[in-house]
Amino acid sequence: MEVPGKKIKDSLIIALDVPAADRALELVNLLRGKVGMFKVGSQLFTSAGPQLVQEIVSGGDNVFLDLKFHDIPRTVVNAAIEAVKMGVSMFNLHTMGGMEMMRLTVHETARYCSAFKLRRPKIVGVTVLTSLDQENLQRMGLKESVDEMVIRLSLLALEGGLDGVIASPREIRAIRGACGEGFIIVTPGIRPSWASADDQRRFSTPREAIEAGADYIVIGRPITGSKDPLLSLERILSELPPLQGGK
Ligand code: C5P
Repeated sequence: MEVPGKKIKDSLIIALDVPAADRALELVNLLRGKVGMFKVGSQLFTSAGPQLVQEIVSGGDNVFLDLKFHDIPRTVVNAAIEAVKMGVSMFNLHTMGGMEMMRLTVHETARYCSAFKLRRPKIVGVTVLTSLDQENLQRMGLKESVDEMVIRLSLLALEGGLDGVIASPREIRAIRGACGEGFIIVTPGIRPSWASADDQRRFSTPREAIEAGADYIVIGRPITGSKDPLLSLERILSELPPLQGGK
């Protein structure tokens, strides 16, 4: 089913994994209006801070603030409100922060946005970091397999009112099956067939990820590290299938 009003470019999130604001803004100016969102993560945010986020937002682009909040409920709520004030369109938190943290964050963020007539950012959860394997989980006393934990935490995210989760390409179908349509799945680990894998080990092509049911794909180095980022973006867009669903 094609989604009226949503264009395939809107599914693309560009990871601005660069050390400083000047390079980030160069990329934003080059790709402005051509992608769905720009992702600002820990490195760039630590270096360039809210000012850079506000600058991207005030230029008319959407920002996904990827700071993976993980703290006691009130602290995460307060951080979430600061994210709202910056005007971000999406931010994330760790589902392992617990049900009360997720519920309170969604509730208080919605309350703040409605009081100030703002659009509530999408709130998505991190389940199990892809850098953690079975042995890591066992050493933490977690007995389930990684796949089981991912589904368990995705269901908790749904129950906690989150809009969706971040998931690796190989987890998309199982999460979609468990959590249903309407639950946002954001997928990094994307590599076009013609791009270098870099340090990604389990990756999908953009087309495979969208066909598996991802609503958003996060792509960094194949575009940001390219000699011609615009050309790389055009190639990726031309390989994507029509929208299958989405929010
Ligand atoms: O450059 P690349 O396309 O690999 O960038 C992917 C982005 O997604 C990076 O910002 C990375 O931190 C993030 N990410 C990831 N794998 C995960 C979770 C997040 O690559 N499992």
